[in-house]
Amino acid sequence: MRRRRSTGLPGREVVAFEGRSMGRLAAVILAAGKGTRMKSSIPKVLHPLAGRPMIHYPVELARRLGAERIVVVAGHGRDRLQEALRGEEITFVTQEPQLGTAHALGFAKGPLEDFEGQMLILCGDVPLLELETLRGLLAHHRRKRVPLTILVGILDNPTGYGRVIRDPRGHVLRVVEERDATRAQRRIREVNAGTYCAEPRFVFRAMERIGRDNAQGEFYLTDLVEILAPEGVATYRAGSPEEFMGINDRIDLAKAEEILQWRLRTRWMRDGVTLRDPGSVYLDLDVEIGRDTWLGPQVLLRGRTIIGACCEIGAGCIIEESVLEDGVVVRPCCVISGSRVASGATIGPFAHIRPGSDIGPEARVGNFVEVKKSTIGRGSKASHLTYLGDTEVGRGVNIGAGTITCNYDGFAKHRTVIEDEVFVGSDTQLVAPVRIGKGALVGAGSVITEDVPPEALAVARARQVNIPGKGRLRSRRRKK
Ligand code: UD1
Ligand code: CA
Repeated sequence: MRRRRSTGLPGREVVAFEGRSMGRLAAVILAAGKGTRMKSSIPKVLHPLAGRPMIHYPVELARRLGAERIVVVAGHGRDRLQEALRGEEITFVTQEPQLGTAHALGFAKGPLEDFEGQMLILCGDVPLLELETLRGLLAHHRRKRVPLTILVGILDNPTGYGRVIRDPRGHVLRVVEERDATRAQRRIREVNAGTYCAEPRFVFRAMERIGRDNAQGEFYLTDLVEILAPEGVATYRAGSPEEFMGINDRIDLAKAEEILQWRLRTRWMRDGVTLRDPGSVYLDLDVEIGRDTWLGPQVLLRGRTIIGACCEIGAGCIIEESVLEDGVVVRPCCVISGSRVASGATIGPFAHIRPGSDIGPEARVGNFVEVKKSTIGRGSKASHLTYLGDTEVGRGVNIGAGTITCNYDGFAKHRTVIEDEVFVGSDTQLVAPVRIGKGALVGAGSVITEDVPPEALAVARARQVNIPGKGRLRSRRRKK
């Protein structure tokens, strides 16, 4: 239901919204800029922050605010952008060439002109905005019933931003870009954060009046402010200046990463996780950590990694795309990727768990052990210097030091099966495909090429020869 309300100004009206349409929201994300200063072959908005491409952040904000339609204005590298946002319900439009922020928004006109609700305008390179700030912006806009509300901030150093120009009564008149500003205007510390809430019909109609008569010869979205000022432009203050920080180069990227990291570290510490040296721990956005888990210095948790409660992750560990259940201990300097470690297992130090591995409860994978695409059963141990690849290890197995599964014959990979309660002596090579039956014993130093039946003792090495007296020869020569 729409109702027209007079603004009191001749020939101008503001559309007021009632009923259901009041709560509807769409979002446009401007992301067509070249990002020249990144000096990169990939689009700027695809550079990662906390393990997710920059563009993910505004998309996620729009989603969490309940935007039912999201339009991304892409330019260079549109295909890669689309690929990175695969699975998200997004309308992509291409702005080519890029003639400014208003020109960019113009491409969203098709999909959004008739949208009955509010339109949030976000930038693809402003990843640190907080959900609460945007909620506030949206609520303020709806309360004010104006065609446009801009997110603003007060900066000690406003250089580079558009300045907010107000009349003596405090009403917003326009936004002046740095390059078009007079010296007096440049002293204004109130800046345009580049994020807006708008009434689509009004904005798309007003946009037709935007020209490019300015220092950069671009169509400025900020010109909307002056055009719509007579009908009322509201402002809403962002929580902190770092929130609307735009990423232009790799220095900004590093700063944003640091801010984001502190948000994540703080969040998990509040949730009951101990970080021994928080500043050195790096957490990706999708990581989850249980209570009373302890993270040592220099720990990196990447991708969708879930760490249970009461785990201990030693210094220098890198864990990615993995699940660790409760009470897992990972000693220092381990790399775990794409794997699962069950409750009570102990890993490392210096172990490498490669993708597709499943380490069972109470199992032990010790130092200099590499495990690839293998499962290890409950309570089994491979404590030292071992390679287990494409292997199934049962329960209660002991793998001696220096055991190697020879899983690759130069052409194909083959599987090794080690059944429950097997004891593999040290320095054994298991040439796959091969199966060691339940409860079997393999003598140290064996090269096992054939299956071993359950309970059997397999010894596959040259028999020892002792030659009497021969040893003395050597010791006599040494004495001379
Ligand atoms: C813009 C605002 C400025 C504000 C600042 C806040 C204008 C004219 N100025 O300036 O008032 O203080 O943001 O960060 O809007 N983009 C396109 N197509 C284009 C140009 C830009 O999609 O043709 C996208 C960029 O990818 C970026 C966003 O729009 O995500 C902002 O563009 P940018 O060039 O960074 O604008 P600023 O000069 O920072
Ligand atoms: Ca910018």
